[in-house]
Amino acid sequence: MSPQALADIAQQLIGAGRGILAMDESNATCNRRLLAAGIPATPEARHAWRELIVTTPGLGDCIAGAILSDETIRQDATDGTSFVKLLTNAAIIPGIKVDAGAKDLALCPGEKITEGLDGLRERLHGYAAVGARFAKWRAVIALDEAIPTTACIEANAHALARYAALCQEAGLVPIVEPEVLMDGAHNMARCAAVTEVVLLTVFRHLATQRVLLEGMILKPNMVLPGLLCPQQDGLDDVAAATVTCLLRSVPAAVPGIAFLSGGQSGELASARLSTMNARFAWPDARLPWTLAFSFARAIQQPAMEIWRGQPDQVQAAQQALLHRATCNHAALRGEYNETMEMP
Ligand code: 13P
Repeated sequence: MSPQALADIAQQLIGAGRGILAMDESNATCNRRLLAAGIPATPEARHAWRELIVTTPGLGDCIAGAILSDETIRQDATDGTSFVKLLTNAAIIPGIKVDAGAKDLALCPGEKITEGLDGLRERLHGYAAVGARFAKWRAVIALDEAIPTTACIEANAHALARYAALCQEAGLVPIVEPEVLMDGAHNMARCAAVTEVVLLTVFRHLATQRVLLEGMILKPNMVLPGLLCPQQDGLDDVAAATVTCLLRSVPAAVPGIAFLSGGQSGELASARLSTMNARFAWPDARLPWTLAFSFARAIQQPAMEIWRGQPDQVQAAQQALLHRATCNHAALRGEYNETMEMP
């Protein structure tokens, strides 16, 4: 695939005023979320939940791409239409999570390395053949006084870059996701410092592996205080810290940045994204890249709690899903505000 074709897909995903929906939870993670909502964790429940999502009317108005998992990319809805076709009919580009999960990093207690490079070239061709146009790989960086180590940052950045190069070789746009976790008592300044080092390292490795920056999307964490930090900074401070960090570390050739939600509430994730766009991007376009979303929990969670596996709750859950997608769509223009949450 030509560089221009990759850049075009990236623009369709990130440049047209819509966001990305992550619905690529591993079976174990999806099961955990189902159980937490009081739903039996079965393959049937996972399928019903994903069918509910991909058949939500109007989703394509707010969502340009949906990230599927290996389990779902070949599944069909109850009427026999494939999930990939349902998404494509709704003008949503199908994507695929291709990493094999974060495993303990040898000799680095408390740190993880994401695996999945072995055999990736062949798997990518298989996913492209069933309709995937982009992919995702998540690296996890934990943070406390002693970590992250250079070993962890370098190993994960190297794997992200190898993955991204393989994606582009196969004609898929890579979403490059280095996630600095929110867990812990660290303050926002520490998150900013670590995130900056991580992003600079990732882009150094992406350059070494010859990854086309115009044909990728960055999926970072926002710069936030740890969940246990006594000082929880306000919207303006979070927006300023996040944008400052990104300006220092993300090349202007990258077309877009789609944040993960990382365990923030749906409302907070929307409010923080909206504040960034209102203050720094919209309508003056003072940033070199689009600031968008690629949320999983911050879009799905309220809807799953309404659904609870009950067939008669499907419509109400779809409305809740669309509501969060609509709030985040408004946040792309800096137009989300809390009155949108009123019934
Ligand atoms: P969250 O928005 O729930 O953090 O998930 C995003 C994601 O895709 C993690 O890989």
